Amino acid sequence: MRIILLGPPGAGKGTVAELLTVRHGIKQISTGDILRSEVKNGTELGTAAEGYMRRGELVPDSLILKIMENRFLEEDCRKGFILDGFPRTILQAQSLKTILAGLSMKIDAVVNLEASDDLILRRLTSRRTCSNPGCQAIYNIYTKPPKVEGICDRCGSPTIQRDDETPEAIRQRLATYQEKTAPLIDYYKNDPAFLSIPSLTPEPVADEIARLVSERSR
Ligand code: AP5
Repeated sequence: MRIILLGPPGAGKGTVAELLTVRHGIKQISTGDILRSEVKNGTELGTAAEGYMRRGELVPDSLILKIMENRFLEEDCRKGFILDGFPRTILQAQSLKTILAGLSMKIDAVVNLEASDDLILRRLTSRRTCSNPGCQAIYNIYTKPPKVEGICDRCGSPTIQRDDETPEAIRQRLATYQEKTAPLIDYYKNDPAFLSIPSLTPEPVADEIARLVSERSR
């Protein structure tokens, strides 16, 4: 099963991806998580990406494509993958198409999660994320708090607010989304694999994705 998750920041891409990973045993590939881990480890890529991320801008396509060009050849993608946060520009979508065609792989579902700006603001200011780069579990102080406040249920590391969760960065991320990423809806909307769905609760979204994929595989 190969899935692309689209949607504005805070629409719930990471949350739905975690659920699909548990249900179907497929790998979540989050370019945001990869970049945050590179920043934390102080790598060359992390140093180049850090400023863009803190300001709520996109990291340049060339850096992202360098991460992604050989990613699908790795063993953990054999059963499929969920792309969370990639592609994010038309150029990235075109490059993805070329990469996958070269590997004779096809995408089973392109899912756009719909969320209003109000909902996004509420979710992002109340989100907490596991600080362990190898875990990065997602919580919400209202809708999905960890069992012990401030501690990740999965690995016991502290949960934190991300550097890009300030009101200014969130506003910039929404503007960047409208300018650079929302045009992907038009890019994919005539594809039979495309589905746009309100991000209300994660379970029905995961059910709809499974239904679409099984319908298309018949
Ligand atoms: P990235 O990490 O991808 O951030 P994002 O797209 O802005 O998305 P988020 O992770 O903030 O939100 P989400 O949709 O995953 O929501 P979540 O599930 O956490 O990217 C960060 C930065 O990296 C970018 O700004 C950019 O600089 C750079 N970058 C990454 N990829 C790039 C690319 N391809 N090209 C260029 N630059 C790139 O949910 C949010 C909260 O809501 C949580 O608290 C959750 O518990 C709660 N919630 C979610 N769903 C529900 C629900 N249904 N009901 C109730 N609560 C819910």
